Amino acid sequence: MKGIILAGGLGTRLYPLTHVSNKHLLPVYNKPMIFYPIETLVKAGVTEILIVTSGPHVGQFLGVLKNGKELGVTHLEYAYQEKPDGGIADALLLAEDFASNENIAVILGDNTTDANISHQIKEFTDGAMVFLKKVNDPSRFGIAIFDKNHHQKVIRIDEKPKYPESDMAVTGLYIYDKNVFNYIRNITPSLRGELEITDVNNEYIRNNKLNHSTLDGFWSDAGTFQSLFQANSFWAKKIDSK
Ligand code: DAU
Repeated sequence: MKGIILAGGLGTRLYPLTHVSNKHLLPVYNKPMIFYPIETLVKAGVTEILIVTSGPHVGQFLGVLKNGKELGVTHLEYAYQEKPDGGIADALLLAEDFASNENIAVILGDNTTDANISHQIKEFTDGAMVFLKKVNDPSRFGIAIFDKNHHQKVIRIDEKPKYPESDMAVTGLYIYDKNVFNYIRNITPSLRGELEITDVNNEYIRNNKLNHSTLDGFWSDAGTFQSLFQANSFWAKKIDSK
């Protein structure tokens, strides 16, 4: 399976930090944020990786990651998202050639986790797989809504609901089959003007092709000062205790 890390966007919630650097190159304890999703993929045996990025600091990625060899990446490619805030699905569409009809593991560049997703990657055949995690602040995330009678079935995902009907967040780790690109072409921008990954996942639900798994261990995004601090403090403790 091939891996894709989405590291576009402008990181406006982290201004003024992101005036000087791309969000995904900011430190999370002792390494740049993007090292974490790369390490998650490499640990799961995914070593051919495409990084989609954008914004004023794109050149810095090459200086930091080079060809990826130091992190165990065997093939590293970059793609440039012209509209930096076109949305997660807009960024993912740029991976179509790279994926060349294979299944893909996708991680948002500001998500860090110590979970091991090797099993799900190995067992994946088709459709889509999302990874869920219980959160205290569900209004900040895509939220999985379950069937009232059959609690294991996800019937809908709500993006950042004002009044969340569940506290299970859809994290920024996904596995997709090749249909993902056609689904992206079928959706239209949301009210905030972005092609939403949640709309793509809802397409899979409509086609009865969305599976889910719970993410074990720590998971956090790092797109706000609070979550960036939370990620830093978790990784500082974890890395120093080794
Ligand atoms: O962290 C998980 C959450 O990520 C999910 O629960 C939500 O369903 C999903 O929409 C997303 O929510 P955010 O609003 O927090 O995503 P954000 O705009 O911060 O983008 C997350 C990453 O996606 C970002 O670090 C880089 C990449 N991205 C984002 C946009 C908007 C791109 O590559 N291009 C983009 O245009």
